[in-house]
Parts: sequence; C-alpha cells; structure tokens
Amino acid sequence: MQSRHLIDLSDLSVAEWEEITSLACDIRENIDSYYGACRGKILATLFYEPSTRTQMSFQTAMLRLGGRIIGFDNPANSSVAKGESLKDTIRVVSGYSDIIVMRHPVAGAAKAASLYSRVPIINAGDGGHLHPTQTLTDLVTLRHEKGTFSGLCIGLCGDLKNGRTVHSLIKALAGFPGNSFVLVSTPYLQVPGYIKDFLSAAGAPWQEVDNLADAMPLLDILYMTRIQRERFASEEEYMSQRGVYVLDSAKMSMAKKDLIVLHPLPRVDEISVDVDDDPRAKYFEQTEYGLYARMALIMKMVKASDKQLCPLPTGVDIQCSNPNCITYSETYIPHIFRKKGDILVCDYCEERTLL
Ligand code: CP
Repeated sequence: MQSRHLIDLSDLSVAEWEEITSLACDIRENIDSYYGACRGKILATLFYEPSTRTQMSFQTAMLRLGGRIIGFDNPANSSVAKGESLKDTIRVVSGYSDIIVMRHPVAGAAKAASLYSRVPIINAGDGGHLHPTQTLTDLVTLRHEKGTFSGLCIGLCGDLKNGRTVHSLIKALAGFPGNSFVLVSTPYLQVPGYIKDFLSAAGAPWQEVDNLADAMPLLDILYMTRIQRERFASEEEYMSQRGVYVLDSAKMSMAKKDLIVLHPLPRVDEISVDVDDDPRAKYFEQTEYGLYARMALIMKMVKASDKQLCPLPTGVDIQCSNPNCITYSETYIPHIFRKKGDILVCDYCEERTLL
C-alpha cells in the first residue's frame, strides 16, 4: 500500500481498489474458505460516534476471517470519559491490537490518530469529512450491479455538505473516464468547495441542481443521503432542510430502467418505503457488499502491517480555518498544511486557509 493507514481512499492506488474489489467478489462466492486468514490477529474498533453497519460489518469481517475483536462503541464507557486524549488512547490500543478501525465526530481525527499509532488505522468516518470504507463498499456494489466504474452519470442527493460518504465517493469516481455528476441539494447543503475543486481538477463534468425530479431521467446511479441532523448548529436549521428531497415511486417512474439506487444508510425519510420493492433499489444489498469489502481490506492491511511508530511531522504556528478540525480539540497535534498558491490546505480536514 502507498500508506500503512487508510485515511482517504487516495491512500490506495486504483490498482489496489481493483485488487480489493476483486478479492471481495471472490470472498462473496467462497466466504468459508477465508476463515483462518487472520487467525491470531486482533482488530480494535474505537467508535466515538454511533454506527450499526460500519462497526458490525468490521467486527463480522474479522470474526469471519478467524481473528478476534476488542474495542468500544460508546466513548462514555471508556477512559475518554475521564478526559483521555486521542493520542494516549491510540498509543495504548495500538499496543493491544494489530489494526484499529476508528470513527470520530471531528474532521481529521483519523489522520491525527495515525500519527500516534504503531498499527494501521482505518478511517471509519471522521466528522463530515470522509468515509473511505463506505466508498470501497460502494465500489464493490457498482462492480456487481453495474459491472463498471466508468461512463456513468452519477446523481448525489441530500446533505452533500456534511455527507462524508458523498465526498469520498466523488473523489473515487471522478478519476474514471466518462463519469459525470449531478449534485442535487439545497443551496445550504451543497458539497464543500474543496470537492468542487477536486471535480474540476479531475476534468469530470458536474452540475448543481435543486430539483430531484428533473435529474431523474439523466441518472445511471442515484446516491441518496440522509440530512445529518447531528452536524447542524441548531434544531431550527435542521428542520429547515429536512424532508426537502424524498425519493418515491412517482420519481422512480421517471428514471432509466437500469438505474440503481444506493444509500449508505441509515435512512430517515428521504426514500419512501415503497421504493424498497423496486428491483433498482440496491441499498440493502449494498450493506452486505460492505462485509466482503471490509474482509478484503483487513486481509490486505493486516498482511502489510508490522508494529512501528513513524516520526512525528513538524508543524507550523498557523491555525486551520475550520473550527470543526481536530486541531482545535486535540491541541498538541502538529499543524500541517499543503501549500497551493496563496492557500494552505489542512492535512487533517482539507479545509482551505488563506495565507
Ligand atoms: N453507512 C454507515 O456508515 O452506516 P453506520 O453509520 O450505521 O455505520
């Protein structure tokens, strides 16, 4: 692997995505033959934020590979509740385990954890930033359900501002030839600027629209998302955005016969239950592909791992402009940026800061 850790999908080369999705397909066909592939290995799941699919599919994946699992699913039941820093928790747990899967409510937390870990860190979601293993899940789903990652018109609808699965998926699919993007959201919930920059730099055609019905006939894939209540500053703001987009049978009737509808789940009210019986609705199948994707990923990352702590990078005395960046809550972390003209891009959360 290009990196020991999986923070962003760009830590894997496209050849490695192909390798993992291909292995996931084989695991799906022959799951019992993979039992024992991780015998003697321990996976730690550190979930600072709620999860059903990601946490359970990682745990199931390790158990199906013959390994064992430790961890917490509620930081209130760990020493985090006593004020333990991310750095200390990671130093300790990386001494107990061979690989760590971490979800955290703050953007850049997984990257920060990787600085202090002796074992590979897998980002299972960092705030509204990224969720790369959901994207591996989505790629395995596309491979099965569409047979290609290219030449697709991809619609993404809902909370495109806070939807980390959306950000990771756009970054993955923008690199494949012939893909175009229709971003369906209210002006308030549009994708962040760095994602628009990414699309433009990749040369992928994209448009922002606010009407889902108009977009339906264009799409090969519709990726619906939940409005992320927990990321809003107030209940009032959330209520102003809730329920704007609902996919129902009437809208499905406007779509292509071979459209597929995906959703990372959980669903709230953005897909009506009558869509569940439409053969083009693939979101429950998608959750199962996630198990095979994570089994393949664990096999690859555990194989490559040897316990080591890398030297800490040197930081600079500049504060990231994003108040939701991990550098605000874990204040000892070195501040690291990439320079792009007169803009600094935060290495943790990717937000831009003007010099
Ligand atoms: N898709 C997803 O991340 O689901 P969970 O929040 O249940 O893990």
